[in-house]
Amino acid sequence: MAGDTQATATAHVNVALVKYCGKRDTELVIPWTSSLSMTLDAFWTTTTVRFCAEAGEDQVTLDGAHLTGEPRRRVTKFLDLVRPRTSRAGRFVVDSANTVPTGAGLASSSSGFAAPAMAASAASRLPLDTTALSRLARRGSRSAARSTIFGGSALWHAGHDDESSYAEAVPAGEGVPFEPVMVVALVDTAHTTISSRDGMQRTVDTSPLFRPWVGSAAADLKEMRDALAQGNPDGVGEIAERNALGMHATMLAARPAVRYFTPATVTVLDAVLELRRAGVSAYATMDAGPNVKILCHRADADTVAAAVRAAGCPTAVAEVGPAARLVRT
Ligand code: DP6
Repeated sequence: MAGDTQATATAHVNVALVKYCGKRDTELVIPWTSSLSMTLDAFWTTTTVRFCAEAGEDQVTLDGAHLTGEPRRRVTKFLDLVRPRTSRAGRFVVDSANTVPTGAGLASSSSGFAAPAMAASAASRLPLDTTALSRLARRGSRSAARSTIFGGSALWHAGHDDESSYAEAVPAGEGVPFEPVMVVALVDTAHTTISSRDGMQRTVDTSPLFRPWVGSAAADLKEMRDALAQGNPDGVGEIAERNALGMHATMLAARPAVRYFTPATVTVLDAVLELRRAGVSAYATMDAGPNVKILCHRADADTVAAAVRAAGCPTAVAEVGPAARLVRT
């Protein structure tokens, strides 16, 4: 229709090497801790946003199906942040497609809000720089603030208000080749029984380990930045594994416990230990789901993937991915 404008953006998922867990301000989405992530090339979201001058209400589809209820509300609430910044009245038609299973702890919400943030701002002709885009994506999904906007590695500064809570790219392996690979163990790709948002909030509210975890996360972040700058993959892997297990321990101590581990998860974690005993540099990280992501050297990716498959679990192999980009305007 005349006056309609549209844009398509693609954003890749990112997986935290130092995790974010919980917000100190839920409305502005200010996290308790800063976090650091790696963008993956293997999984992404592509979103087309059409800004319609005459549409009656926002329309949102994911993988061809119209969203309703809470998932739709989460997107329209996000669009409400973009709307007042444009000088035109109108509604959005948002069509997203995921190559990553949704809501299974595979970071689908990181790409699932970074792509709409970029497409919606381009469709409404809002010129946003990367910091502003990161801040906008953060309001849709916390982890979307990170490397989906940047590619490579990104650090999300917790900050203390809307202005100061944003992500920026961090260099990795300056002067030395640093090519980590992530072998994703697809333990279970169904929706998790407790969403990351609810699991994290319960952890903040009830886990006696939460405050100590905040302190240890700050120390992990400092060491991770050093290991990344030195291009030291074993250091990066070790810190990532202890940080993830610390987050899950904190969640397990919530009341009632927030437990994403399944027996198959533990089998994969055992396979990772076995690989290390055999001299292969492999380290595990997990998010709000039973799936395990294993950081290793590129040269070991086949060995690691074979060990995970031998433990009964399908795999996908991901390398460092690119920044979110506009593919059509
Ligand atoms: C556990 O971005 O899914 O993967 O939007 O609040 O649901 P909400 O958060 P989301 O957080 C995922 C957090 C995590 C750790 C991390 O990615 O840092």
